[in-house]
Amino acid sequence: MLEFDVLIIGSGLAGMTLALHLAQTQRVAVITKRNLQEGSSRYAQGGIAAVLDNEDSIEEHIRDTLVAGAGLCNEAAARFIVEHAKEAIDWLISLGVPFTQDATHQTGYHLTREGGHSHRRIIHAADATGNAVISTLSQKIKAHPNITTLEDYIAIDLITSSKLGLAGQRAYGAYALDKNADKVVSIAARHTILASGGVGKVYLYTTNPDTATGDGIAMGWRAGCRVSNMEFMQFHPTCLYHPHSKSFLISEAVRGEGGILKLTDGSRFMPEHDPRAELAPRDIVARAIDFEMKKHGLDCVYLDISYKPADFIREHFPTIYAHCLELGIDITKQPIPVVPAVHFTCGGLLTDLHGRTDVEALYAVGEVACTGLHGANRLASNSLLECLVIGKAAASDILATPKDQLANIPDWDDSQVSDPDEEVVISHNWDELRRTMWDYVGIVRTTKRLHRAQHRIQLLTEEINEYYSHFHISNDLIELRNLVQTAELIVRSALLRQESRGLHYSRDYPNKQEMAMETVLTPD
Ligand code: FAD
Ligand code: SIN
Repeated sequence: MLEFDVLIIGSGLAGMTLALHLAQTQRVAVITKRNLQEGSSRYAQGGIAAVLDNEDSIEEHIRDTLVAGAGLCNEAAARFIVEHAKEAIDWLISLGVPFTQDATHQTGYHLTREGGHSHRRIIHAADATGNAVISTLSQKIKAHPNITTLEDYIAIDLITSSKLGLAGQRAYGAYALDKNADKVVSIAARHTILASGGVGKVYLYTTNPDTATGDGIAMGWRAGCRVSNMEFMQFHPTCLYHPHSKSFLISEAVRGEGGILKLTDGSRFMPEHDPRAELAPRDIVARAIDFEMKKHGLDCVYLDISYKPADFIREHFPTIYAHCLELGIDITKQPIPVVPAVHFTCGGLLTDLHGRTDVEALYAVGEVACTGLHGANRLASNSLLECLVIGKAAASDILATPKDQLANIPDWDDSQVSDPDEEVVISHNWDELRRTMWDYVGIVRTTKRLHRAQHRIQLLTEEINEYYSHFHISNDLIELRNLVQTAELIVRSALLRQESRGLHYSRDYPNKQEMAMETVLTPD
């Protein structure tokens, strides 16, 4: 059994922020199922939203967040996070994150713009902000004597009071599979943090990396936490459409800097859908693209920034320029083929503004959580900000709690299971699940399609649970079990919402109800 003061599950921006804020006085373990830098955070392109410019204001950032969130944001959460944004950015700068500079701007930094923002307020490192932030923070993590990083460890389940036969509802750590040793270890901790990201991989097409399998949401749910707003899966309007490129995002900043969406014949369509045109919030732009593709029978639409000077494009979008060029698309001369793809999980484990869940000593921070900031549709570049602000707040809460005794945790018991007879079942079920979600729980929904999805998910759940209870676990089996659980939560939440709001659009209920209500599911 390994023992730490704090166990952090996940090494994206949420997990790294917590680790660095805690490590001065706590012995921290960061476990991560691939390498330290892998996760959505490192792929972030556009940047981090923060009021840094004197012409901008906190009130306007809050208002933009609430408008994008379609009436469902928790205003107190938006205010708390927006008010702490500058402090979070100053912290990153103090650690050495190389944000793009602009000597002519009052802040000394270049601020870009994205959909739904009334101001230029996105601080960024060209079009590879996540990489700049995660590379910088991971060096600090590796160098810190109080932080132990366990790479290729995948958490399986939380260890809770009920598992230990104790009263109450408390977390005591987690079981994790050490993938290199193929062995399950018990990790005891005074505080456990789920910082395991979202669940984009539950859909066939996503901008998310392979790590985004909803593990934290499913583990938290099984441990007794409520989940909220799971129906609001955000589709990013512009994922590169190319047979040799999987999951490559074309940043919203391309539209922020003037990129125009066009049909195959070169005609512009966004002004017909919204007066904010290409800079409308994401739910509106993604739905407009979906509408135009279906109307004209198209495989994709085009994002055109080629009318801007070539030097400007290469300077602001070096990663996108280079990736497209490798595929034969010169974005300084040609429009970019794009389609919407699943991008962000707005819902998650319900937490307060310190990341506290319903289970004592268990926190959830980052995309795994639902603080209420994003409502029915996240405003661009508010996610990294939430990781930073709530990460620090959760760390403060932990630091203020007296250290108590560690629990005695029994070993993982796999005496009743054997080696799998047919491992191919896992990949078949995985493919079926992702196809089902894409076909029936997409941008435009109907009750009939949601019921179809629910029926298929029920059958898959039975098969997967049976497999899980009979055979030795593996990385893929752990992820599949979590994916099917989160799919069930998404569909159940979507069926409960009998209106269209933000990212949830139902043909059977096309109007918005007067009163905005969160969808909250409680485990049995
Ligand atoms: P992640 O960064 O996804 O990290 C999760 C971590 O948990 C990973 O280390 C993963 O390996 C680990 N993990 C998961 N399950 C387990 C398990 N069972 N056991 C052990 N480890 C586990 N947001 C913005 O604000 N601005 C942007 O510009 C932006 N651009 C984006 C571009 C792309 C392509 C994508 C995909 C997202 C973008 N987002 C952006 C969203 C944002 O990046 C994410 O919401 C945010 O990074 C989530 O951070 P996180 O720490 O919660 O999760
Ligand atoms: C992007 O660069 O378009 C992603 C920004 C985000 O997801 O907030």
